Amino acid sequence: MNKIPVITIDGPTASGKGTVASRVAQSLGFHYLDSGALYRLTAYKALKNHLDLADEPSVARLAAALKPIFKEGKIILDGENVTDKIRAEAVGIAASKVAALGAVREALLEVQKGARSEPGLVADGRDMGSVIFPDATLKVFLTASAEARAQRRFNQLKEKGIIANIDTLAQDLRERDRRDMQRALSPLAPAPDAKILDSSSLTIDQTVNQVLAWYKTVNR
Ligand code: DC
Repeated sequence: MNKIPVITIDGPTASGKGTVASRVAQSLGFHYLDSGALYRLTAYKALKNHLDLADEPSVARLAAALKPIFKEGKIILDGENVTDKIRAEAVGIAASKVAALGAVREALLEVQKGARSEPGLVADGRDMGSVIFPDATLKVFLTASAEARAQRRFNQLKEKGIIANIDTLAQDLRERDRRDMQRALSPLAPAPDAKILDSSSLTIDQTVNQVLAWYKTVNR
């Protein structure tokens, strides 16, 4: 049995998982695993290499050979700073397609499990609590309404000087939720023992504090 504590934070796209998970990790001095970045990196490289996203063996081979460097909040792939590039909507959509391929999920298994190291890990994604770390110390399923998530994504893009259409964003989010929830393998769903946290009307601080408070109660 692995005694290293793990907090899993799963949930739909743009629910704030990444921000909340990295803040919780920082506050506890734990490592942070952004599992979605692995699917985004796979998609980014597959698009760059003009692979057919449905070509499962080729995309899986590429996923298995990924050597990303996560350093000081930056993600470097093959010497290129891809931190912002992998956040593009087109990459997110491609990521949700490659994430439906079993061989790709299999190829990314070891690197995810390997992120569990002392003094502890906060992992965010879709299947962190249900598949990758079923024995996690605390499992959180973070949700928010599609409208609240579209508004957050709109604000994020605006900060970067990108003006998006909020209705199109909400529609894209629903489409991606549908694909993530309906796929056969590791579909987006709370683990049976996950605590559900709806952040639609919570600030980031309130959300982080709730996770920390829960962790305190299970970590006595
Ligand atoms: O969390 P994100 O938006 O960066 O994730 C990008 C895509 O990767 C998303 O469509 C679902 C997929 N994903 C997954 O299938 N399993 C994970 N553990 C994390 C992400």
